[in-house]
Amino acid sequence: MNNLVEGQVYLNGEYLPLSEAKVSVLDRGFLFGDGVYEVIPSYSGHLFRMQDHLDRLQDSMNNIRLQLPYSFEQWMEILTPLLDKTKDQYIYLQITRGVAATRDHAFPKDTVPTVFAMCSDIKPLAGVEAGVKALTMEDSRWEMCNVKATTLLANVLLRQQAVEQGCAEAILHRNGYVTEGAASNLFAVIDGILMTPEKTTEILPGITRKVILELAQANNFKLSEEIISLEALKTASEIWITSSTREIIPVVELDSTPVGDGSPGPIFYKMKQLFQEYKKSV
Ligand code: PDD
Repeated sequence: MNNLVEGQVYLNGEYLPLSEAKVSVLDRGFLFGDGVYEVIPSYSGHLFRMQDHLDRLQDSMNNIRLQLPYSFEQWMEILTPLLDKTKDQYIYLQITRGVAATRDHAFPKDTVPTVFAMCSDIKPLAGVEAGVKALTMEDSRWEMCNVKATTLLANVLLRQQAVEQGCAEAILHRNGYVTEGAASNLFAVIDGILMTPEKTTEILPGITRKVILELAQANNFKLSEEIISLEALKTASEIWITSSTREIIPVVELDSTPVGDGSPGPIFYKMKQLFQEYKKSV
C-alpha cells in the first residue's frame, strides 16, 4: 500500500478519495464530539516523535474510556501510505466512539470505533517570520484540557474572536493565570527565564512543548515550568506559541501592546535554530 493516489484518506480499514470518505450521521463524533484526535507532523516522510503522539493518543482514549488497542506497528502501517516523502506534512488522526443505533448520551454497547486519518501539507502562516499578534481571553473550556478531544467548540470560538480582531491566536487565562493558546502551548521569557505553564489538566501536553523543554534543558537555558500570572505575562520580553503544525511562533504584540521591542527576541532565534537542527537529526 505504498502508492496511494494523492489526496486519498484512511477510513475504517480502507484508503479512498477524500470525497468518498463518508461516516454515518449517527456517528458519535458527529452527534456529540465523542472522540479524540492527534496531529502528527511528518518531515520528508518521517513521522516526528511518533511514540510521544501515540502515548498522548492512548492517554486521551483512556480519559474518555475508548478502547482501540492498536500497536505502534499497526499505526505505522495505517499512516505510512498517506505520507509523501518529498514534503513536510501532517497527519490528522481521529477516533470516535463509533456509530450507535440511536442517539443516547450514555455509551452504546459493542460499538466499533470510527478511525479516520488524512494527510495535509504544512503551509507556513503568512508573515510569521516577523511574529504575530495575540489577544488574551478568559479560558472558557472544560476541565479536561489535557485530553485531545474533538469537542473543540470553545477553542473554535476563542480563535475566531482573535482572528476577527486581526490576531493569530487567543492566549487563554483562568483565575488570573495563563493556560495556553486556543490551539497551541505558550512560552514566555520573563526576567530572562524561559517559562511555560506547568503540565496540569488545564493544558494539552504539547509534543512541541516537550521537545522545546528537552532542547532548553540540554542547552542550559534558564528554564522554569510554573504558573504564570496574566500580570507577569504582560511583562514578558518574549512570548511564543507552539504547536505541531506551526512549530514555534513569536508573539510580538499582545493586546495591542508590543512584546519586548515588538520583534522576535534572541531566545526565540536560538530555540528556532535548535529546533530545526533537532528536526534534521531525527
Ligand atoms: N493543536 N494546546 C492546544 C489546545 C492545541 O490544540 C495544540 C495543538 C497544542 C500544541 O500541541 P502539539 O505541540 O502537540 O501540536 C496545545 C493541533 C495542532 C490542532 O488542533 O490542530
